[in-house]
Amino acid sequence: MKNGTIWNDDEGTPIQAHGGMILEHDGVYYWYGENKGAPNASADGGWARVDVIGISCYSSRNLRDWHHEGVVLAATPDDPKSVLHPSRVVERPKVIYHQPTRSFVLWFHADNSTYTAASVGVAVSDSPTGPFKLVRSMRPNGIDSRDMTIFKDTDGVAYLFHSSDWNRTMMISRLTDDYTNLDGFHAPSLIAQSREAPAIMLRNGTYYSVTSGCTGWDPNVALYATSSAVIGHWRLIDNPCTGPHARKTFYGQSTYIFTVGDQPYLMLDHWKPKNLQTSGYSILPITFTDDGMEIAWHDEFNGI
Ligand code: GAL
Repeated sequence: MKNGTIWNDDEGTPIQAHGGMILEHDGVYYWYGENKGAPNASADGGWARVDVIGISCYSSRNLRDWHHEGVVLAATPDDPKSVLHPSRVVERPKVIYHQPTRSFVLWFHADNSTYTAASVGVAVSDSPTGPFKLVRSMRPNGIDSRDMTIFKDTDGVAYLFHSSDWNRTMMISRLTDDYTNLDGFHAPSLIAQSREAPAIMLRNGTYYSVTSGCTGWDPNVALYATSSAVIGHWRLIDNPCTGPHARKTFYGQSTYIFTVGDQPYLMLDHWKPKNLQTSGYSILPITFTDDGMEIAWHDEFNGI
């Protein structure tokens, strides 16, 4: 699969799973993302957008051959008040498995077309391939929330990372034990650093975040940060990308870090704002040297 381009599923149809993530469950990889498979809608408020179709899911055993499992959380055209109405914005879905109830919990950025609702939505399913049922939407702890991700720690405690204070500060908010709500404990990180598109990983007791700057659909420089605790003192370190176009994140933007064995991979979106449904994907291995995190460009990702 050529990095930076849109990839096809096992039926030769372009994969619609933008702002996505990959979850491994019982030996199967599930790729969730925004289905943007329609022409751009008119952009009131200035941002290019596609009417909400829903969250797609694809499955694979080798991260190369992807089977479309369908739209697992669908838009609700008949309910204008729903956060899933086509006129809204549904972005960056992230799914975690809740072991005690064997359920799957999906969090997403729920917004309006001018990005002023700045909320999250939460949906649950007892199957990784859905259908997911919306359980709530809210501003996390009353705080604005745009780009976001979910990180589940090794002790099973999960956290929402969300760009807040008009994207100036990355808030970290702890989830309740059932993962469908927040328990109120939250703390800011990367204060006034204007970072978004967070992707989180843990390695040898150190937590890493990779984030982008805030330039909408346009690429910018990625930065990684480290901390010894999820809710702790996060410190921006450097641009992890190396080689040509490293200062533009290879014309991509971070969305998730998943790990296979000991090998972490960064997923990127290559946004094409003029026709968002043609936005491409990359999956790049993350390496560590004495100098820290390093992400080099690879022309291809061909699974495992
Ligand atoms: C980006 C963000 C995307 C989308 C876009 C809208 O900054 O990372 O997820 O919200 O802005 O312009």
